[in-house]
Amino acid sequence: MIASFFITVALAIASPADIIPAPVSFREMPGSCASDAPVKYRLGKKMEKGAYKIVIDRRRITVDAADSLGAFYAAQTLRQLRMHSDKLACCVIEDAPRFAYRGYMLDLVSTWHDADYIKRQIDAMALCKMNVLHLHLSDTHAWRLESEKFPLLHQTTSWRYGASGEDWKVNRLFAPVAAPGAVGGFYTKEQMRDIICYAAERHIEIIPEIDFPGHVFAALSAYPELRCESYVEEQGDPNQPPYLVELCIGNPRTFDFVYGILDEVAELFPSDYLHIGGDEAKMTAWKTCGKCQALMHREGMKDVSELQQYFTRKVTEYLVGKGKRPVGWDEYAQAALPEEAVVMKWHTKCELPAGNDVIMATHNYTYLCYYQDAPMFERPAWSRYLPLDAVYGWDPAQESGAPSRILGIESCQWTSHLPDDAYLDYMTWPRLAAIAERAWSPESTRDYNNFKERLRKFYPVLDSLGINYFDIDKEVGHRPESLSGVNHLALNCPVQSTSAISASYSQGGLPALTDGICGDWNGDDHRWIGFSEAMDVTVDLGEVKPLRYVGASFLCHKGYSRDLPKEVRVSFSSDGISWSEEIVRVCEISLWGVQCAYPELGINTDCEARYVRYRASRREGPVKWPLLVDELIVL
Ligand code: ACM
Ligand code: ZN
Repeated sequence: MIASFFITVALAIASPADIIPAPVSFREMPGSCASDAPVKYRLGKKMEKGAYKIVIDRRRITVDAADSLGAFYAAQTLRQLRMHSDKLACCVIEDAPRFAYRGYMLDLVSTWHDADYIKRQIDAMALCKMNVLHLHLSDTHAWRLESEKFPLLHQTTSWRYGASGEDWKVNRLFAPVAAPGAVGGFYTKEQMRDIICYAAERHIEIIPEIDFPGHVFAALSAYPELRCESYVEEQGDPNQPPYLVELCIGNPRTFDFVYGILDEVAELFPSDYLHIGGDEAKMTAWKTCGKCQALMHREGMKDVSELQQYFTRKVTEYLVGKGKRPVGWDEYAQAALPEEAVVMKWHTKCELPAGNDVIMATHNYTYLCYYQDAPMFERPAWSRYLPLDAVYGWDPAQESGAPSRILGIESCQWTSHLPDDAYLDYMTWPRLAAIAERAWSPESTRDYNNFKERLRKFYPVLDSLGINYFDIDKEVGHRPESLSGVNHLALNCPVQSTSAISASYSQGGLPALTDGICGDWNGDDHRWIGFSEAMDVTVDLGEVKPLRYVGASFLCHKGYSRDLPKEVRVSFSSDGISWSEEIVRVCEISLWGVQCAYPELGINTDCEARYVRYRASRREGPVKWPLLVDELIVL
């Protein structure tokens, strides 16, 4: 057995058909070439940016490219082929990138990962011909970059109690650097220069992100004088982020701070682009802060959202003046932007300016912090289900509302649940390889089954780089109930209800409760129906029938704040007038006890009835999201 395995490996010939990302085109020829055959690079060819041609014959390898960039990508192709085998198939490969921007965002704030970790990702990204690593360096949970002008940032908020963002948010306590029991770290400028250089050698640009004017809880802990006068730390639902606070826009010192930090960052990072965040400003304190209100009055602003636009315009102009291309999350596009500014689209639906370049990072296709497999069998993650086939299946250019000026695509890894390197890798790979292929390869090469085949050769490549990954061959996959229809006595029977249906989860309306179609792991897959308050529905079976069971499945996701009912009550009637006593089933689990669950809350019975009434009451507490139910099953 072992001997035959080695013979198979030794005889395997590396083929361009096996690499990731798939090349634009290749033609195999008879014969093979030793992987250490001499390689001749011929630069100066008239070819598009990043393009290359490789000819492998029996004795030598020839690479044509315009310059060192194309030569580098040819070298990555050869590197991957050599990792597959010591014999390369004779072939001609012609290749070029689809998008100029092929990015990955790594959130280094929510959990700490050291410089060696970042370099390992750079190695794998280079092999996949990605060319941008966007480092998210400041946010609610920490500030990770050394600052000479504002040293309290890294000195007082880069270490904290709670390795993951999720653990930290329970008490939100920062700690002095290296304090006993604390975890964390920051990147010194020296370390960051080294990372930038390491990436540049691999043709990867490091783009820093300093997130303003929201996501500044850590910065405001270090410099509380930049808070609004009306700032109060909100308490409440620990599942919601009440600590989404903003810089005081009405305080001139805020601009000294922001410009000071941007001067340091712009000097440290040679990248053309500099990301200034701009997402999810809650703007609550701005409404009652004397300084912010005075600024609004002076500038004739009517709404606090204009304060963000004012901030965005000033900071954008400042960066453009320094020769940078500012990038912001799509909320940023609410301000009038100069042509140099770039918008990063993360919302599914948003207005995008026609005159600016856009990077597509639409969350429901690119956020690798979402579950890649059946949520209940995975470690906690962000609350959506985003399997490899959905990432691979995404075509940013065909996405609804796709802008005309797509610079490229980016995948984002938010790490609040991912404190250890191995798990962060597992949540990143191989989905990032799928993004890399979507970013590099033309649509004509897209073939998911073929991609899965190629992954089997890519795993040893990741092993050799010391990178962990999810093995797609072990995938559990979609919710089994969602894959085939359910047959039951209430199928297509009319349902009446007095309860309000949530506008966001009304797809299909009440008939969806008895259409025999169950939801998948995501609550917004048009199969779950949401009840804003209690659920109280009655189904008419058409005639009196013997009944054994009544139940319904609910969706519970902690990260998504979707809870289960407190209890369900079922009663029966033959005429719709007189009803049996209610049978009560208490729901023992809630989102406070589990990360996610899809329990079917049912009762057994032995009766005859035409009408079945099913009620579900809400749990008391701060969570005000709808109850999500997919199918009312009667047997
Ligand atoms: C984001 O996910 N807040 C950009
Ligand atoms: Zn203010």
